[in-house]
Amino acid sequence: MSRTPPVSRAENPSARPESPSPCAGEAAVLRAENLVKTHYGEGAPARAVRGVDLSVRRGEFVAVTGPSGAGKSTLLHLLGGLQRPDSGSIWLDGVRTDGYGEARWAVERRRRIGIVFQFFNLVSNLSVADNVELPALLAGVSSKQARAEREQLLAELGLQGKERSMPGELSGGEQQRVALARALVNHPPLLLADEPAGSLDSKGTREVTRLLSRFHQRGQTIVLVTHDARLASAADRVISFFDGRIADDAELDGTPSRGLGISGVLELKD
Ligand SMILES: Nc1ncnc2c1ncn2[C@@H]1O[C@H](COP(=O)(O)OP(=O)(O)O)[C@@H](O)[C@H]1O
Ligand SMILES: [Mg+2]
Repeated sequence: MSRTPPVSRAENPSARPESPSPCAGEAAVLRAENLVKTHYGEGAPARAVRGVDLSVRRGEFVAVTGPSGAGKSTLLHLLGGLQRPDSGSIWLDGVRTDGYGEARWAVERRRRIGIVFQFFNLVSNLSVADNVELPALLAGVSSKQARAEREQLLAELGLQGKERSMPGELSGGEQQRVALARALVNHPPLLLADEPAGSLDSKGTREVTRLLSRFHQRGQTIVLVTHDARLASAADRVISFFDGRIADDAELDGTPSRGLGISGVLELKD
């Protein structure tokens, strides 16, 4: 990596961003520049992410939508350090992170990035309480504090009385709420969610939508990958992802969209 990481403007207000960004001057929790990722599997290489620029402001709720295979999960995995980009840069709170190794990304995910997945990924042989407390304990929080955080979150998520249950004894919707509690227990500045309602019924989907909206209203920054229009409509910005690229990027309050626009979507369908 020959480029030096930029100084965060929050730390040094006179610092100039090294390149113009849609959010220059505003607090970007997450910024990515020209991210590229190709998967090499059995058949032809899959060019999952083909040059993505993205900036997410503090407190924003961004939904990324697009057809299956568009590269949404790959993008989210790159942003959360679960996969490495072939090229491109990522900044988290103004700090460059794309050069981090596994161990350092694991620390980031413990402290600064909460992630929820379609299939919850709870530890099946740990109780609900232990699943939620574990990331707090791993981050060095005292057991008393971890318990207090867990109690508050589970109460908030309507899971009182389920502390001693094992994940397998809960409904899908309940398991996803536990996964949300686990992702949020360390108060991460950024929550990444990949199809969090993808395996839930409509009641579970409504529940997840309501909870994400509630955390967003309290200031949680969220990047949500979903093909569910109901979930996406809870966001305040919707990015359409197509063939590894951002085809449209629109604020839901009616602000004119950036990016290629709808005509761009059609042009990309070669
Ligand atoms: N680990 C992998 N190995 C090989 N190909 C992959 C892998 N992950 C994803 N892909 C391919 O990359 C493309 C984008 O996949 P993905 O990011 O999962 O899209 P989406 O989440 O939008 O459905 C698809 O063609 C998919 O088959
Ligand atoms: Mg996916």
